[in-house]
Amino acid sequence: MKAMGALLMSLALLGCSAEVSPFSVDYDKVEVPIAQLSSDEARARGRTLFKEKCALCHGDRADGNGVRSQGLSRKPVDFGSPGWRSNATAITVFEVLSEGKRGTSMPAWPTLSDGQKWDLVAYVLSVAEDGP
Ligand code: HEC
Repeated sequence: MKAMGALLMSLALLGCSAEVSPFSVDYDKVEVPIAQLSSDEARARGRTLFKEKCALCHGDRADGNGVRSQGLSRKPVDFGSPGWRSNATAITVFEVLSEGKRGTSMPAWPTLSDGQKWDLVAYVLSVAEDGP
């Protein structure tokens, strides 16, 4: 009986941990912080982070021409192009930052907090309209 209890308990725990596993985030259900996305402060913080962590590949002007971009099998896109912007959403950018982009050199960024990722989303999505 005691063993049965322990078994049920561990099953419950397993179910529980599957729920919060970082590997099973349902990005369609992630809550987008709308106000942060349109905040000038968030964009400015995102821009600083971008120069620090992303410009090497994505370029100082976010146009895909970073110093490391030449050797990459797939060159980073130009975030300033209206074509890219019209297909991008806050959630798709947030997901790429969280998971990386399969088949490319784009890494995942587990060291960034969600707040920092949304700052980067705010910046990246503003480039086409406001410039780098
Ligand atoms: C090692 C080089 C490298 C670094 C560093 C890097 N990226 Fe990327 N990134 C890429 C490549 C290559 C791609 C794939 C081509 C593309 O889609 O732009 C990519 C793709 C992306 C995309 C998806 C574009 C799309 O719509 O498909 C986003 C958004 C992005 N990167 C943002 C960032 C941000 C923000 C940072 C900094 C935190 C960053 N990247 C750091 C190389 C890099």
